[in-house]
Amino acid sequence: MSNSIFVGTDTDGKQQELLFKLANRHGLIAGATGTGKTVTLQILTEGFSKAGIPVFAADVKGDLSGLSQAGSEDHKLHDKLVARAQKIGLIGNDYAGMLGSGYEYEAMPAIFWDLYGKQGHPVRTTIMEMGPTLLARLMDLNETQEGILTIAFELAEDEEMLLLDMKDLNAVLNHMSENKEEVSREYGNVTSQSVAAIRRSLLKLKRAGAEEFFGEPALKLSDLMRVDKKTGKGMVSILAADELINSPDLYSTFLLWLLSELFEELPEVGNPDKPKMVFFFDEAHLLFDDAPKALVEKIEQVARLIRSKGVGIYFVTQNPMDIPDSVLGQLGNRIQHALRAYTPKEQKAIRAAASSFRENPNLDTEEVITDLGVGEALVSLLDEKGVPGIVGRTLIRPPASRLGPATKTERKAVMSHSPVGDIYDTMIDRESAYEMLFEKTEKIKEEAKKSKEADAKTVKKKTAPRKKKASTSSRRSSGRRQKTATDHIMHEVKLVGRQLLRSQGRKIIRGILGGMMRR
Ligand SMILES: Nc1ncnc2c1ncn2[C@@H]1O[C@H](COP(=O)(O)OP(=O)(O)OP(=O)(O)O)[C@@H](O)[C@H]1O
Ligand SMILES: [Mg+2]
Repeated sequence: MSNSIFVGTDTDGKQQELLFKLANRHGLIAGATGTGKTVTLQILTEGFSKAGIPVFAADVKGDLSGLSQAGSEDHKLHDKLVARAQKIGLIGNDYAGMLGSGYEYEAMPAIFWDLYGKQGHPVRTTIMEMGPTLLARLMDLNETQEGILTIAFELAEDEEMLLLDMKDLNAVLNHMSENKEEVSREYGNVTSQSVAAIRRSLLKLKRAGAEEFFGEPALKLSDLMRVDKKTGKGMVSILAADELINSPDLYSTFLLWLLSELFEELPEVGNPDKPKMVFFFDEAHLLFDDAPKALVEKIEQVARLIRSKGVGIYFVTQNPMDIPDSVLGQLGNRIQHALRAYTPKEQKAIRAAASSFRENPNLDTEEVITDLGVGEALVSLLDEKGVPGIVGRTLIRPPASRLGPATKTERKAVMSHSPVGDIYDTMIDRESAYEMLFEKTEKIKEEAKKSKEADAKTVKKKTAPRKKKASTSSRRSSGRRQKTATDHIMHEVKLVGRQLLRSQGRKIIRGILGGMMRR
């Protein structure tokens, strides 16, 4: 098997190859709209998949779904694709209507995912796996509110209640405001206003369609790291993002969460021969828009550390300046499509992009960037020694899978044969904080009712003038009895909770970004 992906041939006649053993040194695909970024992502994905490396990519415009279908000689661009393949030496000039071994049409094994569960298998995670820090970012909370949200997590952990979905979190928040004196004493100041504000944000998030996303079965990373048994190709996970992209916070938080999970769950592998998994981050600017400095630092840190877990991250964006320098510095493999130079800001971006490459005496990169054709790019990939290769003006290879989207019917067919449909298509709702608190309240109500009835009976026996006093003492005593009942229930809740936690075998507050950010 080859040890690299053939990306294209440059004007110096050099074949640009992405080496698998350096593919975990990350990459950048940049370029103005319509210049060929998605097709470049597509051919890289094909290369990884064919080498048995699973890929995850968000499909912002629906066109990546074509990866699941083979290209075809009936395709309107077939002749152009063949001409391109000949130009870069992928097939000979003796092509006579039959594609040969150098360039063949073939489909990649795909799994479609969708946070909203419409165009793919539902992707879910639990509130506790998301963790308070990422959740606070998602809900746009201020520092005080984030503090209170963290208390909600701590309280749930202490009382061994599971925070799975949005109604669990809501129930715990409600519980907190109902018992705010007690909670404040134990965890720090909790005000009704702040809790109310968090609950309002939660409602907003729900309206934005995020309710579907929180719950079980939560996504297991191993399902993103599958290899197709039949063909040995890495499975390509394609996340429908056309609708999702309209909720940029949810989109970027979800991808961040996924990265942090990969980071946390995968073992160290040092420098593997090929990556364990490759992750494409399309519309990457959304991740960094308005991102606080602390978050950017953490992303940089995760990018740096995740390398040794064998994960390669490829950022796809229109303008390389959208990505902070500290992160840009981590991206070793670079494919720069054409940029436009209309405004001073754009000209500045061109100068920056042009100067970021290792010089090629035959090229004026600054001039070439604005002159590149569609599906052509300035390419510099890491060489055997891990040094950026000399930049080349490169015609990118044509894809083997279909250029353009899969139809609805094709998507359905792929989904019906999917290895994960049985696992994720039906939501489950096991006992968690909401049910526990609901049950607890019901029991307390019942106990209170019973003790009230008992008190009423005692009171009846007493004489009229002492009634008033009796009722105060009864309130107190029913309060005491109530507490005993609560204690008893809490004890049971803890037992159940402990069992659940044990069966889960994981820590309740998670998210490395969350953990790292608190420090
Ligand atoms: N490597 C390639 N081989 C063949 N055709 C290509 C290649 N790259 C780009 N093209 C052609 O250019 C068109 C636009 O490319 P692509 O969709 O990748 O642009 P893009 O940069 O992703 O645009 P946008 O920013 O709008 O998403 C493709 O539909 C295809 O026809
Ligand atoms: Mg695109």
